[in-house]
Amino acid sequence: MDQYRRIFENLHTAILTLDNQLRITSANPACEMLFAQSRNQINLQPISSIIHTPQLLESLNEALKSGHPFTSRSCQLILLNKNESTVDYTITPIDDSKTEDIMLLELNPIDRLMRLAREDKILNYQVTNRAVIRGLAHEVKNPLGGIRGAAQLLEKELPGQNLHEYTDVIIREVDRLRALVDRMFGPNQPLNLEAISIHEILEHMIRLLLAETKDGISFHRDYDPSLPALEGDKDQLIQAILNLARNSIEAMKNKGELIFRSRVQRQFAIGNIRHRLVIQLDIEDSGPGISPDLIESIFYPMVTSRPEGTGLGLSIAQDIVAKHNGLIEVTSQPGQTIFSVFLPLEHTNEF
Ligand SMILES: Nc1ncnc2c1ncn2[C@@H]1O[C@H](COP(=O)(O)OP(=O)(O)O)[C@@H](O)[C@H]1O
Ligand SMILES: [Mg+2]
Repeated sequence: MDQYRRIFENLHTAILTLDNQLRITSANPACEMLFAQSRNQINLQPISSIIHTPQLLESLNEALKSGHPFTSRSCQLILLNKNESTVDYTITPIDDSKTEDIMLLELNPIDRLMRLAREDKILNYQVTNRAVIRGLAHEVKNPLGGIRGAAQLLEKELPGQNLHEYTDVIIREVDRLRALVDRMFGPNQPLNLEAISIHEILEHMIRLLLAETKDGISFHRDYDPSLPALEGDKDQLIQAILNLARNSIEAMKNKGELIFRSRVQRQFAIGNIRHRLVIQLDIEDSGPGISPDLIESIFYPMVTSRPEGTGLGLSIAQDIVAKHNGLIEVTSQPGQTIFSVFLPLEHTNEF
């Protein structure tokens, strides 16, 4: 029995037993994690006082009545403390007259799996993006060089000054296209790595932003002062984060709140690599949010919702962060958009 107890205590799946009033009669430590409450706090509490998801409560009542087990996938749990978590759950009525326990409820949080799947998609995008842009850059830039050279030769041969305006157009447009292709590719220089403080980068950037924005935007800092230094390319990281912050300011139309938050995450996976320490930098704004049909594609180059936009800011930012083995993620709803930049600290920690 002891061995079963040990297994129960160590499972990652949150397991509860309930009596015929749907009160909690036992719970394993995974429940404490999920509900952010101790076992003493939840013991003998009605399950409905802890989980507020109508679908789950209905299924429990149904299973209690019918005696049939029930499984549901990707259910959004609404918890007492307003936290939310996505779980797969199984309800199993136990036919055991010796004990009070009538039902077994297993809750398997899948947020993390969903996040990993989403990140995988972003990282794949990124690889495809780069390949497409590299191919395009090559195909476009080579002939452009030829066209420019030919236009210059032609210019010299032209008899009249008035015809120069045509060759000027050719040269100007060629230069514009070349600059566009270069910008799409992002900063093409290799990383110039040095030990830097992420807060130094943020402060530098806030100074730039203060100079260019109106008073309607208020800046807030929520820093974790204990963050260790990061090995990174200062200029490129400033550019990446500046692109995110400028988008926020544009989205808020010069009125709203911009929060810079820094945290450290331990044992954090980016793609399929688990890092011991990762810096999480959130840029949060109170703007209108990103529409659901746009959010899947905003990291692609040339995707923009603004008439004067280039759609390159996010793809360049993602690219720079990816070169630092990191990732940018986004969550958005009206009134709250958060871009989270994850940067692993591998090079600087001394484990
Ligand atoms: N903080 C934000 N709030 C709302 N929408 C945003 C935000 N950041 C990015 N977006 C959306 O993502 C699109 C792409 O951004 P970006 O790649 O920087 O290109 P651009 O700024 O040139 O449009 C924007 O046009 C906008 O629709
Ligand atoms: Mg932009």
